[in-house]
Amino acid sequence: ILKILAALASGYLLGSLNTAVIVGRLYGRDITSHGSGNAGLTNALRVLGKPAAALVLAGDIAKGVIACLIGLRLGVHVQSGDAGDCASLLAAGAGAVLGHNWPVYFQFKGGKGALTAVTVLFMLNWVMALICLGFFVIVVASTRYVSLGTLCATVLFAAISFVPAFGNALYFHVFALLMVLIIVFKHRANIGRLLSGTENKLAF
Ligand code: G3P
Repeated sequence: ILKILAALASGYLLGSLNTAVIVGRLYGRDITSHGSGNAGLTNALRVLGKPAAALVLAGDIAKGVIACLIGLRLGVHVQSGDAGDCASLLAAGAGAVLGHNWPVYFQFKGGKGALTAVTVLFMLNWVMALICLGFFVIVVASTRYVSLGTLCATVLFAAISFVPAFGNALYFHVFALLMVLIIVFKHRANIGRLLSGTENKLAF
């Protein structure tokens, strides 16, 4: 249990390094008071532009990967040796998403956790991650609503996480449920805007 807590804490501290806030500050702008106000990749692209968004993308992927590697190294497995069964990896990944969304270094004002969550999913099960990412790209390309793409991919993730062929352990489902709840909760304002037809479209 100590190793699980250590994984959760290190994931949280790493995830709290919210790249959108940091890159925003480098560009002299407070990302939380521009655009959608969200400290994430989409808003960084909207407010700061493509080079800054590329930095945010790299930073958010890097912290997710590092958190997972720490979790993997702690190596707490319950049943099999699969990544999907590695409780410390799941804890570190969940910690990274929690830190990204509610960063301890930035007054708990963070992002919505989708990019960090998909990075963690790549470390757990890349096939599942690729399916979700592919669906996200299709929805965004056809509607230009990033939030709709994220929400659709999240629902798909919730559904396919129950496919037995992926062979995941019980607490993988707990992790999946937590991710789905967090991401949907964080998108509640987007859901309102989508329903009222006022959501921001991705524009280049
Ligand atoms: O993952 C964030 C995205 O789905 C929406 O971002 O800035 O449009 O609220 P934003």
